[in-house]
Amino acid sequence: MAIREVIRMGHPLLLQVASPVQQFDSPELHALIADLEDTMLDMNGAGIAAPQIGVSLRVVIFGQKLTVLDGASPSNPRYPDADAVPYTVLINPTLTPLGDELESGWEGCLSVPGMRGIVPRHTRLHYTGFDQYGQPIDRLVSGFHARVVQHECDHLDGVLYPMRIPNLKDFGYTNVFFPNQDVQDE
Ligand code: NI
Repeated sequence: MAIREVIRMGHPLLLQVASPVQQFDSPELHALIADLEDTMLDMNGAGIAAPQIGVSLRVVIFGQKLTVLDGASPSNPRYPDADAVPYTVLINPTLTPLGDELESGWEGCLSVPGMRGIVPRHTRLHYTGFDQYGQPIDRLVSGFHARVVQHECDHLDGVLYPMRIPNLKDFGYTNVFFPNQDVQDE
């Protein structure tokens, strides 16, 4: 389909609460998901939410489509140490943290290019929702998978990760925090 422009922090649309999808398996929804996928792949994103391409609907995609060969784990160039997260289309999601445990970790965002910050997220998460065909999704996840889902679904409620950084000393430029690493700019 098409690589779309990703809107950046400061754009009012990123602060809106997005609307639920009413109709599944429609040409419009499939086109939206194709555009999200093309844009995420082009930018090496771990995930992307529809509001980031200017569409205020409760749709996120995340993870990787790469198949695992010979036990090798596909990795995202932006998050080389992250466990692989399966490619997922998640619509109208509901998130329920499991327990009180929080885990701090680095995050970046395609709408905040060139920067990283340390954000606490729930370690364990139960999430539900639907795929683009209206089939239910129901998963218990932890670690990086849980972090990605929390980050992407925050976009549906108008929340960007810098708003969740407890100590702004932990927010800065990727190439300053990680000068010797080949971390791609978003
Ligand atoms: Ni983001």
